[in-house]
Amino acid sequence: MKPIKSLLIILCISSFTTLFAQEKEFADLLQNIDAREKVSLNGLWDIIVDPLENGYYNHRLQPMDNGYFMNAKMQSPSDLIEYNFDTSDQIMVPGDWNTQMEKLYYYEGTIWYKKDFHYTTKTNELVYLYFEAVNYEAIVYLNGERVGTHTGGYTPFQFEVTDKLKEGNNFVVVKVDNKRKRENVPTVNQDWWNYGGITRSVHLIPTPKTHISDYYVQLAKGSTTNIEGWVAVENGTDGDNVEISIPELRKNVKSVIENGRANFSINAKPTLWEPNNPKLYEVTLKTATDKLTDAIGFRTVATQGSKILLNGKEIFLKGICIHEEAPFKTGRVTSKEECITLLQWAKELGCNYIRLAHYPHSETMVREAEKMGFMIWSEIPVYWTIQFENKDTYANAKNQLTEMISRDKNRAAILMWSVANETPEGEARLNFLSDLADEARHLDNTRLITAALDTQSEGDNGKMIEDPLGKVVDVIGINHYCGWYVDEPQNCASVKWASAYDKPMIMSEVGGGALYGLHGNKNERWTEEYQADVYKNNIEMMRNIEFLSGLSPWILMDFRSSRRPLKRIQEDFNRKGLISEQGMKKQAFYIIRDYYLKENN
Ligand code: GCU
Repeated sequence: MKPIKSLLIILCISSFTTLFAQEKEFADLLQNIDAREKVSLNGLWDIIVDPLENGYYNHRLQPMDNGYFMNAKMQSPSDLIEYNFDTSDQIMVPGDWNTQMEKLYYYEGTIWYKKDFHYTTKTNELVYLYFEAVNYEAIVYLNGERVGTHTGGYTPFQFEVTDKLKEGNNFVVVKVDNKRKRENVPTVNQDWWNYGGITRSVHLIPTPKTHISDYYVQLAKGSTTNIEGWVAVENGTDGDNVEISIPELRKNVKSVIENGRANFSINAKPTLWEPNNPKLYEVTLKTATDKLTDAIGFRTVATQGSKILLNGKEIFLKGICIHEEAPFKTGRVTSKEECITLLQWAKELGCNYIRLAHYPHSETMVREAEKMGFMIWSEIPVYWTIQFENKDTYANAKNQLTEMISRDKNRAAILMWSVANETPEGEARLNFLSDLADEARHLDNTRLITAALDTQSEGDNGKMIEDPLGKVVDVIGINHYCGWYVDEPQNCASVKWASAYDKPMIMSEVGGGALYGLHGNKNERWTEEYQADVYKNNIEMMRNIEFLSGLSPWILMDFRSSRRPLKRIQEDFNRKGLISEQGMKKQAFYIIRDYYLKENN
């Protein structure tokens, strides 16, 4: 490769500060942890199941100083200590507890997790304890000291624990509570299993004292030649340099740290990321003490009337909805292999787009999908009827939104942030979701905002989309189960749609249930023939929707839900998958595949 003609551009452009949300507005999360040396705390953890939170509260329900987080041990034979992690059950992390132990299948409440680990501290380093996700509420202790809490089951969080680490033996204890509460996000009813536990990986991440804590590297809104961004340097000294290089584009830029952050702008002509060519560039960020490399794609996304434009060209989103349910073993997805299995099925289906429902999936899922060329809809679990009037509920939802965007803001594959699914019309709801949409646009003005609605009404010209939320979002998602929850399959083909908005519509959910292997007439519920017929007729219906710019049938694979108790058919599974949880493709899989491969290519 010819030597890179280094373009030494020293840019001190204060105007950037207005362009980008301030770094502190993003979640306090190390960006791109996979590029860092990490100590994994995955594996077997000791657990104590504590339905009465006896390890946290005394009999007066006051928090105790000597709770289970102290991991106390008998010092003398007469000592009274009524718990002992070392002789307790063990469970795998990452993973949900419900599918790992029969006795925890239905369990909702507190479980204490404890992990011993050895650590050798180094001078001039900081150490972060990083959780990729814990459902739902986590209180974290290190060596008996409380380091912090987190609420929300699907986004990462970290604590800087340098001063709490000991040389040699350490122990971390996490109180995990997945109790459902009315004020939570999601609230008490959801159509997916409330898998509890430390459901994604846990890491100890050492960094230099002065290190790159966060960054944003994307094409400027509407530009295909201006890569803009910033690099945040923890403990950085104003005036010091940050180097941003993209070797394949022969770009090497230096920028000066100002208020802990270096803004930059690079004129370049990258090959744009798109499903048929998911081009990612190696981008390296370097300071005097730290270096990080990421694989980043560059693309633009916009709407024009009812069209979605990727890199300025109209695109039809051939999608599928996916829950983070593991194929075959079921329970929460815990490995890259399981992510790839789900994505390969979506590829076989002919998809160029996936809706990750109803919560942020793992960073691994997002990165693997990006490598495979899937455009992504990413969503926070503002699901059904949460407490829209409740300020704490809003703060919780906003925090989950901020963490989702913070983690994935450099992923070109993510085209849309979804702020809600099937929420009831109403003023409080509209204000709540409008504020969330504003927050999302403030943090990231390069992507589209969407939400899945089920508020379509019966108009003179068929179904009418006029939900006031349609004004707020850029793309309108519609969940409509013609032939399953409403109407007869054979009537769906003639259903017409109209919209009060000149905006793209995505049929964000459509479909029906079937038990793999159950066959019969197409008017017999739960047979593959019935499900296939639902899809045949809905495809006819969708052909007539001029402003349709994509769809994501509900759903790729059957998934567990405590709302689905029908014996011999559902067995606690929502059966709307095109594939069973054991990987068996139903007839409807091929209906959609043919529609995608033959029609919309
Ligand atoms: C709803 C909802 C999904 C649910 C699906 C169903 O539209 O968004 O979470 O699983 O319908 O009823 O199967």
